[in-house]
Amino acid sequence: MAPINIVIIGASAVGNTAAHALLEDAQRLNAKITLINPSKTFFWNIAAPRIVAKPNAFRADEYLLPIEKSFAKYPATSFEFILGTATAIDTSSKTVSVTPADGEAKTLSFDHLLIASGATTPSTTGETTGFSIPFKPSGRDDLKELIEAAQKKTTSAKNIVIGGAGPIGVELAGELAEAVDQGVSITLVSATDRVLHTLKSSASSAAEDQLKKKNVKVLTSTRVIGVESSGDSWVVSLDSGEKLTTDLYIPTTGSIPNNAFIPESFLGPDGWVKVDKQLRVQPADGSSSLPIYAAGDITNNSMRLGMKAVEQARIAANNIKVDVLHSGERKSYHQGDSVMMVVPIGEAGGTGQVFGFVPFSFMVRMIKSKDFFVPKAPLWLAGKA
Ligand SMILES: Cc1cc2nc3c(=O)[nH]c(=O)nc-3n(C[C@H](O)[C@H](O)[C@H](O)COP(=O)(O)OP(=O)(O)OC[C@H]3O[C@@H](n4cnc5c(N)ncnc54)[C@H](O)[C@@H]3O)c2cc1C
Ligand SMILES: *[C@@H]1O[C@H](CO)[C@@H](O)[C@H](O)[C@H]1NC(C)=O
Repeated sequence: MAPINIVIIGASAVGNTAAHALLEDAQRLNAKITLINPSKTFFWNIAAPRIVAKPNAFRADEYLLPIEKSFAKYPATSFEFILGTATAIDTSSKTVSVTPADGEAKTLSFDHLLIASGATTPSTTGETTGFSIPFKPSGRDDLKELIEAAQKKTTSAKNIVIGGAGPIGVELAGELAEAVDQGVSITLVSATDRVLHTLKSSASSAAEDQLKKKNVKVLTSTRVIGVESSGDSWVVSLDSGEKLTTDLYIPTTGSIPNNAFIPESFLGPDGWVKVDKQLRVQPADGSSSLPIYAAGDITNNSMRLGMKAVEQARIAANNIKVDVLHSGERKSYHQGDSVMMVVPIGEAGGTGQVFGFVPFSFMVRMIKSKDFFVPKAPLWLAGKA
């Protein structure tokens, strides 16, 4: 009997976890899993704020890990990695069009499909400034070069403005403040009246205190309304009327769905893929029984976090198995509403919110600031997050 084709688009937190979960059962499923991704490496982007600020904090091979190697243990009949980009999904012929990094465009048939294409950010695409500060995979196989170029910019700037004071903006400000020479000015612009405004206010004050001790200027209740290049520098216009002249502007807000290849009918008004609790795609036409799932950042589930992505990956893989085997118990995803976030501010500390409590700075250091979870990257790639 010909194997069942399961195609997964995207090989990051979701794609890798789901692929391993399915491959563990590949024989019983009589399945072949095809994983498509534009880069050969899995990017430990959780550490991006430290990576872009401190070129020597980690080795590149600690945060850019070869994807195929982690699947080498499976027989070639059950697994294929395609270095390339999915360009279209045809629901009636059940095919995915793929443009490989080299070679001709091709069409893959699927019996079951998992969309795991995630999200990017304005800093990654460089749409505001024309250059990339990569906080997410780039959609090409060029992250090493992008990161090196970003490190050159952060280490040579004498004046840096960071737009947005959510966790990424705060973490980046803390890392840069530690990395730069004395006399380099760092300004963090927060649209809200306190940084980290989704966390408890005591976390915000802790963050503001720690940043000020590191000589970061924090502007609250201030919005960036325009960024213009002016020769070698940038002019950042604020809604207060003030204009900041800077060598480097880094936006840290915004999340953009990687949905260019996804049928319009799968997408909600903001461009995220609509899924039900079982993570099955819910097209606008009501044909909810398509054998197509989506998980992680690309979905309309609002907590776009790595751990939530992994949780969804396991649920989607489980439900695909149930579809294939016509037996077993289907699972559902409930994101809950508890905030779990640790925010390093440099190597010595930070803040956050864990089970309703704001952790002491030294606890944040022990949990995350010391290494940004980099030692966990191989586990996530191996499906053991
Ligand atoms: C700076 C930063 C720090 C973060 N820190 C944390 C943290 O501390 N803790 C936490 O839990 N979460 C954190 N997150 C969130 C976390 O990174 C995401 O939730 C997680 O990466 C989502 O995984 P994913 O697999 O859904 O998608 P992504 O990681 O976005 O991966 C999608 C993959 O699909 C690929 N792809 C896209 N389009 C196509 C296509 N057309 N064809 C083939 N492949 C495609 C992409 O190249 C990429 O490899 C952070 C995010 C950022 C930006
Ligand atoms: C996602 O969209 C689907 C279909 O519209 C909807 O049923 C579901 O509740 C949405 N999920 C969230 C978390 O809003």
